Amino acid sequence: MPADDFVVTPWNVEGDIDYDKLIKRFGTQKITPELLSKIEKFTNESHFMLRRGIFFSHRDLNRLLDDYEKGKKFFLYTGRGPSGHTHIGHLVPWVFAKWLQDKFGTKMYFQLTDDEKFWTKQDMTLEKTSQFALENALDFIALGFKPENTKIIIDTKNIKTLYPIAAEFAKRINFSNTKAVFGFQNDTNIGMIFYTSLQSAPCFIEDMPVLIPFGVDQDPHFRITRDIAPKINKPKPALIHNIMIPALGGPKGKMSASNENETIYTTDSAETVKKKINKYAFSGGQPDIEEHRKKGGNPDMGDVMVAARDGKKVPLGTGINKDGKDTFISEILNVVGNEIIVSLKDKSAHSIIVKDNQEVETFVDFIQSVIEKEHKILDVKILENSIEIHKG
Ligand code: TRP
Repeated sequence: MPADDFVVTPWNVEGDIDYDKLIKRFGTQKITPELLSKIEKFTNESHFMLRRGIFFSHRDLNRLLDDYEKGKKFFLYTGRGPSGHTHIGHLVPWVFAKWLQDKFGTKMYFQLTDDEKFWTKQDMTLEKTSQFALENALDFIALGFKPENTKIIIDTKNIKTLYPIAAEFAKRINFSNTKAVFGFQNDTNIGMIFYTSLQSAPCFIEDMPVLIPFGVDQDPHFRITRDIAPKINKPKPALIHNIMIPALGGPKGKMSASNENETIYTTDSAETVKKKINKYAFSGGQPDIEEHRKKGGNPDMGDVMVAARDGKKVPLGTGINKDGKDTFISEILNVVGNEIIVSLKDKSAHSIIVKDNQEVETFVDFIQSVIEKEHKILDVKILENSIEIHKG
């Protein structure tokens, strides 16, 4: 993998993903402001994952919404390969699907592919994946899907529902198709070679079009599904893709079981979550003051931003603990022009850039009073060009 490049496939996500490049590579459509307003027309509310570009790309969502407007209903489908505990990266499309179900009153299908993970993971047994399927199903249900409108399919248990459709698919996908898409070799087991037919099957369970919210790494499967659909006289599924949620340590792949410290699981205790965030979360500041002076902060990553020169945003780190009780700032390291460099208790350095030079002194005084525990930062709100700090 070249240094400036990245990999996104159903089995491997690596590097710092450039999502505009990925849209070109995969041939999907970017979610435009026009499409966002169109969605809002039906939902009367914008979802934070749309506003923040967590869902960034789609296939045929315009068509699906146009048809919906003309009275054509659709249903929702997403899934999970149960190979471990659920983490917050998995929850993203599910949380969004729940919102879509509420807003559009749709049916929802959730596929748990215990067979897939048994085939793709060397050390997995069917017993383990079936067990994780049940555990993961509880996380899904807990999000509050309407029971009367929601069905969970576990491949090894509910294969009867899937098999006739999968058979139609399997007949129309030849080895060179899947090989070209997934890079299969002669020693790839034939379960994996067959698998795309199984992931395609739920798309055609209902006699209406489907919308699938999911992490973009799964797109290659559905590219095949969409190619085959017209050949069996079915509508092509509409897709909406979310970004791969990065590990706590920053953008270098995705949150995954191979890095437990930087991954937040639904099974973690509140105490564990707190520890992981305090210790491993990347806030956009550099690890120490030397590095920070050399490289500056990373304005895209800070969890609290301060409006800066030229309207460019610069991270403050949080300045406050996640539970809002403890203030993190431990020292003012330097003041250069309108930039105040502070260190946090974890010793990382952060710049706070104040808009007007005249305000520097007031702000430095304020921070000093926080360090001396005369004041506390209670809450920080990010507005268009400024931030509002509530002190206590
Ligand atoms: N292959 C997916 C995974 O490894 C599981 C899955 C099955 C899925 N059906 C899906 C994901 C539909 C998204 C949409 O996790």
